[in-house]
Amino acid sequence: MTSLVESVTTPAAAAATATATASPLANVPRVPIPPNGVDYRGKIVLAPMVRSGELPSRLLALKYGADLVWGPETIDRSLIGAERRVNPRNGTIEFTRIPSNGGRVEKTAKPSVIYRLDPVREKGKLVFQMGSADPDLAIQAAKVVAADVSGIDLNSGCPKPFSTSGGMGAALLRTPDKLVSILEALVREVGQPYQIGISVKIRILETPELTSALVTRLVRTGITGLTVHCRTTPMRPRERAIRDQLRMVKDICHEAGIPCVMNGDVESRDHGLALMEEFGVDGAMIATSAEANSSCFRSEADGGLAPWRDVVYEYMKFCLESENKLGNTKYLLNMLIPGKDKAFAEAKQCKTYLDFCRKLAFDDLLTHAASVDEILDLTTKWSSAPGEEQPRSKAVQNAMQSESARAAGGNSARSKSTSQPAHTGGPIRTSSIPDANKPAKADPSDASIPAPQAIPQSEVSA
Ligand SMILES: Cc1cc2nc3c(=O)[nH]c(=O)nc-3n(C[C@H](O)[C@H](O)[C@H](O)COP(=O)(O)O)c2cc1C
Repeated sequence: MTSLVESVTTPAAAAATATATASPLANVPRVPIPPNGVDYRGKIVLAPMVRSGELPSRLLALKYGADLVWGPETIDRSLIGAERRVNPRNGTIEFTRIPSNGGRVEKTAKPSVIYRLDPVREKGKLVFQMGSADPDLAIQAAKVVAADVSGIDLNSGCPKPFSTSGGMGAALLRTPDKLVSILEALVREVGQPYQIGISVKIRILETPELTSALVTRLVRTGITGLTVHCRTTPMRPRERAIRDQLRMVKDICHEAGIPCVMNGDVESRDHGLALMEEFGVDGAMIATSAEANSSCFRSEADGGLAPWRDVVYEYMKFCLESENKLGNTKYLLNMLIPGKDKAFAEAKQCKTYLDFCRKLAFDDLLTHAASVDEILDLTTKWSSAPGEEQPRSKAVQNAMQSESARAAGGNSARSKSTSQPAHTGGPIRTSSIPDANKPAKADPSDASIPAPQAIPQSEVSA
């Protein structure tokens, strides 16, 4: 398929054309961006990151100035058949499914959240990234989320065996026919009907000739963006990115009117802007620097890097608002808290949100933390309950866990809370999206967050 390319006709563009010698981008044609899509030009963006790119991290990046955020790679099959629901407590959209055990669906299991997004704060800014090696599966999966995101990006760069063994990720760089067919299918069956953009993220190949041949094919598929990670597939993350091929990739993209985003060792917004200027690319994507401190998206002029404690506080608030899985929160805290600080070792011991907020002295978050622990069935792991001064002994915690397990009719220590839901069925409200500027309050008397015991277990995120 050939890209529809339109000439730049805006007054600003006309002025830019008049000064073509001054600006290398002035005469660049542009693919039209669909009405529900988003233009990657001029953007400093959060990279897709499995584990590190869940909703709270994305909200954190946006808070500090990221222009767009990519979600973590989600495999097509995991999304097909997922149910879309609106979390009545915080208005987030959750795609859930009952976990299957070796293909056998556990009837008693709670739905687990495959993907969560914020329709207010991520509106116009979220790109969903997919792992796929099959056009039909890619279409089916993309349709599940297409109405709720601004773009679908195909991961064609992940070198990890879980991705490449199924022919996905970087394996697609070796099967360009397949890669092209997936992109064309997504453009035709998802991009056009939903009026969103389809894009691809690749790595460079071993030689400029190989990369050039691949990119030349990709820009003809109808995509509206291409990100190039300036490392080859075998390169490890700690090896410095190679930017020798970047101008060539950018030139091929620009000839076809496609925005080109660079990735690899971009450290901050200011650094990204400088690299965009130097290489003539349209955008810059940041991964590991954002994982370490998301305030890298804030320019020096606006304050630059924030102290880790401020960043962690903001992150914790987003985790509580999102009811983020504790294991995921812990993973990113591990990245955000410097290893040499004593809070690092202390945080490692925490098993609940209440304990985290106590250890980090986030006293104003304690009530909210306790209520989220209730929602996530974590109260039996509290080292001490709210208001208790002494930590619970291990024996008391064990006894509470067994008691909880018995009450739920199971043997597992990770069983359901004994609290009775006030109602057990009914549709989840879809009109309760809160004002993004008013974070949900922790006080259980606040109607926007029901008291923990009033939350039906069927609606609780795993
Ligand atoms: C924890 C982690 C998870 C990642 N997951 C993905 C992913 O889901 N999809 C993807 O295309 N790349 C993924 N990557 C690669 C990054 O998006 C990015 O291409 C790479 O880290 C290079 O950028 P950097 O030099 O800024 O770190 C991941 C990287 C990290 C560190």
